[in-house]
Amino acid sequence: MRRILFLLATFALVVGIGAQNVKEQKAALNSANKVYSLPGKPFMHKLVTFAGDEVTGVEGLPKGLKLMTDRPGYKYIYGKAPAAGEYKYTVTLNGGRKVDVGFTVSKDLAQPTPFMGVLTWNAFQSNISSDIIKAIADGFDTFGLKEAGYDHMCIDDEWAKHDRGADGRLQWGPKFQDHEELVRYVHGKDLKIGTYSDAGSYTCSGAQPGSYGYEDVDAEDFVKWDFDLLKYDFCNSIGGDTPEDAEKAYMAMGTALDKAMKKAGKKPSDFKFYMCEWGGRKPWLWAANTGATCWRCTPDTRDYWDDKANGGGVLQVLAIMKEIWPYQGVNRWNDADMLVVGLHGTGYPSNAGGAGHKPGLNYEESLTNFGLWCMFASPLTLSNNITNLDGKPNDLTGKTVVNKDYATDLAIITNKEVIALDQDPLGQAGEPIYDTKDYIVMQKDMADGHPALSVTNLSGIGRNIRVKLSDLTALKAGKTYKMRDLWNHCFLATGKKVNKYTTNDEFVIWVPAHATYLYRFY
Ligand code: GLA
Repeated sequence: MRRILFLLATFALVVGIGAQNVKEQKAALNSANKVYSLPGKPFMHKLVTFAGDEVTGVEGLPKGLKLMTDRPGYKYIYGKAPAAGEYKYTVTLNGGRKVDVGFTVSKDLAQPTPFMGVLTWNAFQSNISSDIIKAIADGFDTFGLKEAGYDHMCIDDEWAKHDRGADGRLQWGPKFQDHEELVRYVHGKDLKIGTYSDAGSYTCSGAQPGSYGYEDVDAEDFVKWDFDLLKYDFCNSIGGDTPEDAEKAYMAMGTALDKAMKKAGKKPSDFKFYMCEWGGRKPWLWAANTGATCWRCTPDTRDYWDDKANGGGVLQVLAIMKEIWPYQGVNRWNDADMLVVGLHGTGYPSNAGGAGHKPGLNYEESLTNFGLWCMFASPLTLSNNITNLDGKPNDLTGKTVVNKDYATDLAIITNKEVIALDQDPLGQAGEPIYDTKDYIVMQKDMADGHPALSVTNLSGIGRNIRVKLSDLTALKAGKTYKMRDLWNHCFLATGKKVNKYTTNDEFVIWVPAHATYLYRFY
């Protein structure tokens, strides 16, 4: 069995992320340099470095936080966040180089945990209307999604008319007769509502204008209309394509939203700015500067296990997300894009690609789609039709769709112990421990000190996967743990204990092809 040690994984990570410019390499961390916390909450910041660099110390840490040196591979800051305020600490690298880290502690963070909700694009594309948005909003309650934590009803592209009005403002399309009543309806269900625009001249479908040059008026309208979230795409950009151009374009909207919220007498943190640049310009390095609190890191996800052509299959998203875990944190979320569980090949754009394969994930692949997205601590956005989770024929999407797998889909997307991985307030992403062509194993630090483990079989046949607990640096040496199976809500083997560094150090589990099993250590 091939096992890649952490140092090698770190090296692969540098290669995977690709060329950093020379200036960045000289004095930068390979992890976030702008971090956030709620006051008094457990806080963790992993100081992963580029190959050849090493953290030699940290100055200016607020009281309650300590530099921890007990893990091979990286040092990390850990402890209880201080009272609200703007802090700065300075990380020293070998050779005396310094990296400043901005640390915002506030009770008013726009996204302390990754948001959860529904995006209309894959299942509905242009088939959206006030009535359909209301029907989807009803689905949150009917099928217990609201109870499981989903609370954002997000309208994607194609809600507006193709052209701006004579006053230069965006105009609602004819299928949205009374948008004020629609927003009230969704809010009345105790849900938040999101809208969509683009940082270029037109949105990605080309169906409606983008907000470039109109940031102030559009932000004013989104706030006036009482939206809570904006997904902001990057098609048809006219201000340039470089990371710096994108940062400028996103900053323009971030600033406009902030201004509009203040002008309306609202707290800017009551609005979520969701950047959708697709990852090409490495938004994890700079997106937090723009006011965004989550950002897409991947091409559009597709309803396939493997989609080499578009880069949108589960495998392709995993390949990106597993490299950028050190950048994940509270109020700064790397987004792995919409979940495709429940689509079963019935979506619209989600069926593009697949190189001749039939679209749709099987049961095991659905466990991996949902389980890994939770391990990534990605925002959880369902893109299936959540109004057909009763197996009855449903033609809301523009074609008659029956979801015969509704019961298992629902069990997956509402599994509370799995969702708790995603929503953990420590905000850490799963970090690969073993990463081979056949399987990937990740550990995830959790706020209550009970780490999680994912074991994913990437190969086409069921196999035994062996995990040596002494390779899980999040576990404490010498301590005895019980392992809990999160899909099945039970402790393993009648409470049999697994003990790090002792006879029970090895844990072997048979995992079906393409499945992900999830555990926590207690
Ligand atoms: C882009 C985005 C998608 C979706 C479409 C809408 O492709 O990445 O998520 O919003 O635009 O046109």
